[in-house]
Amino acid sequence: MSANKLISDSRTVMTELIMPNDTNPLGDLMGGYLMRWMDIVSAICASRHCESHVVTASVDHISFHEPIKLGDVITLTATITRAFTTSVEVYVEVSAADMPGTNPRQSNHAYFSFVAIDKETRKPQSVPGINPITNEEKKLYESAIRRREIRLILAGKIKPSEALHVKSFFAEM
Ligand SMILES: CC(C)(COP(=O)(O)OP(=O)(O)OC[C@H]1O[C@@H](n2cnc3c(N)ncnc32)[C@H](O)[C@@H]1OP(=O)(O)O)[C@@H](O)C(=O)NCCC(=O)NCCS
Repeated sequence: MSANKLISDSRTVMTELIMPNDTNPLGDLMGGYLMRWMDIVSAICASRHCESHVVTASVDHISFHEPIKLGDVITLTATITRAFTTSVEVYVEVSAADMPGTNPRQSNHAYFSFVAIDKETRKPQSVPGINPITNEEKKLYESAIRRREIRLILAGKIKPSEALHVKSFFAEM
């Protein structure tokens, strides 16, 4: 397995023009299409980092704050936040703008988790670590451990009592 990698090495950006086939009868982008593009851009990012095939293990909460309209241009940016043993967390941010680039706005974001899979055995395989450099990268890296514990508790993979970083949060619920 290669040494720790830079987050910037796998950052992936995708741009899409919203066409009539992508919209609902109100002329707004269908949420499912946006989720599909978010899955694709984050899978490419995860695969570049892991240098292997990956599968989506889970997607954290996604909310849609304001509609994206027919003719808008959206930009999806996917960034690795942290690598664990066989899995990585990817942060995806979506922004929208009118075709000439006016009215730019943040649309939504989500955290995706991917597991690296060995093509022959189809079993999870270990992934390279990351070196967070900027303050923003370090912040996302530190908080990733708490998001991981919450999603593994919600998926029934670990018990709240086994969590090291969010145990008190569940004890108060
Ligand atoms: C994701 C998957 C590989 C995990 O397999 P598993 O046998 O449960 O594996 P393990 O329990 O040994 O966990 C392997 C890794 O997955 C992670 N994982 C498991 N469930 C997870 C979840 N719900 N969310 C985030 N990570 C998860 C574990 O934390 C572990 O990561 P780590 O090694 O970095 O600690 C398996 O459930 C799977 O293949 N799911 C289907 C994936 C799929 O088809 N996705 C859509 C199409 S791409």
